[in-house]
Amino acid sequence: MQIVRRRVQRATGTFLSVTGALSIGLMTAIHASQAKPPAPAAKASPESIANGETLYKRQCQVCHGATGMGNGPAAKQLKGKLPNLADKATLAKVTDAQITELLTEGKKSEIGNMPSFKTKLKPEEMQDVINFVHTLAK
Ligand code: HEC
Repeated sequence: MQIVRRRVQRATGTFLSVTGALSIGLMTAIHASQAKPPAPAAKASPESIANGETLYKRQCQVCHGATGMGNGPAAKQLKGKLPNLADKATLAKVTDAQITELLTEGKKSEIGNMPSFKTKLKPEEMQDVINFVHTLAK
């Protein structure tokens, strides 16, 4: 009886350490898959950034402010603070693909609406404006 119980304990112990190792492995894998690739701002051409700046001033500055700090005149109508685009940490949390989706679809959030730019910006113009936004982040 004693021996049987010990064997059961040993078997359970092995099982637990195997599942433990597996779940740590899994968590690491999940974590790695969530890590965002670095922003490809370095690849952006000066022309793209310059065009992005023109578009930003026309379409984005009214809310996000000239330097991306979220203090444009229209920001006063929002119910909360805009994400600070001048802070690297803000842009580190989103990929260019996610920003493109945001610009395409717009977003309703607790603080207010980010409008859709689907009809205002062509896909390459969206990339230009994103390239410019990366230059704001310090
Ligand atoms: C009418 C105001 C308004 C305008 C104009 C506007 N935005 Fe936004 N933007 C918002 C709001 C509101 C949010 C916050 C959404 C949220 O809470 O997730 C936001 C969020 C963002 C974010 C942060 C996304 C994130 O997940 O952290 C980026 C990047 C952004 N806007 C880029 C732009 C660009 C580029 C333009 C111009 C093409 C633009 N916005 C124009 C209101 C605006």
